[in-house]
Amino acid sequence: MLVTGAGGQLGRALAEEFAADGVVTVTREEWDVTLPPPPALDPGELVLHAAAWTDVDAAEDDPQGAAAVNVGGTANVAALGVPLVYYSTDYVFDGGKREPYVESDGPNPQSAYGRSKLHGEAASGEQAWIVRSSWLFGPTGHNFVRTMLRLAAERDEVAVVDDQRGSPTFVGHLAAATRQIGHLPYGVYHVTAEGDATWADFAEAIFEEAGLDTRVRRIATSDLEPRRPAPRPAYSVLRSEKGAPVLPDWREGLHECLAAIRVVDGAE
Ligand SMILES: NC(=O)c1ccc[n+]([C@@H]2O[C@H](COP(=O)([O-])OP(=O)(O)OC[C@H]3O[C@@H](n4cnc5c(N)ncnc54)[C@H](OP(=O)(O)O)[C@@H]3O)[C@@H](O)[C@H]2O)c1
Repeated sequence: MLVTGAGGQLGRALAEEFAADGVVTVTREEWDVTLPPPPALDPGELVLHAAAWTDVDAAEDDPQGAAAVNVGGTANVAALGVPLVYYSTDYVFDGGKREPYVESDGPNPQSAYGRSKLHGEAASGEQAWIVRSSWLFGPTGHNFVRTMLRLAAERDEVAVVDDQRGSPTFVGHLAAATRQIGHLPYGVYHVTAEGDATWADFAEAIFEEAGLDTRVRRIATSDLEPRRPAPRPAYSVLRSEKGAPVLPDWREGLHECLAAIRVVDGAE
């Protein structure tokens, strides 16, 4: 099988999970998915498509750039002609619900990123598992856990929004669950950690688990300085009504992630 976006946080977790299965990995340098694939590339029997434009705010300024990667790039991956797993997002929903979104709920993305990911779902073609997950974090790359640890090293108190609720999901758990997805019929599946939290709850748990004294000041999204260009759903907890794999609770993912960060940082 082939993993795209292998330099990203999920791509790395997939490469690790499937290392013993003879997986081929391509980073952005090896295949920019907005271009045709390198002639010698052998996708095998399955593509785990983790390459994406993931800068939610930058997509507002350059929606066509985001679409080129998330829609056009996905069409290029689908054109390889083998089944694929496309990773999508809770940001395809508008956040107006107050109970978990299931697969049959209608998407209504509020941001350019969310729209590009939804169109990317359609570009995946007919031989695709569309795995919607949320609030990904892992030991490498840009994510909330690493940002909070960096801020905690600089200050005693961090202001964090307390009016957006979702399910923080550890990339290692999502990568492991990808094995089970292949046994399900093609289609859309919601695959996130058990439990939910606001960003402020998540930040407090990070500091507690890491043994840090840093305080969390709970603020509203409207109080964020500077204001974020892209709107985020106020509520985007996802659950499956179709028997998708259920991942461990997000606190368990956080525990594993911090242990892995200690290993990564120790090695650096
Ligand atoms: N992060 C989240 O909270 C979240 C939540 C739900 C769903 N998802 C979805 O999960 C998937 C993986 O996300 P992630 O968190 O692992 O993101 P990530 O860490 O940003 O990884 C994405 C990877 O794609 C690469 N990439 C960007 N443009 C590319 C291009 N044109 N060609 C080839 N590679 C390209 C990036 O390379 P550069 O670093 O060089 O740009 C990066 O290595 C994405 O589909 C994302 O939409 C993410």
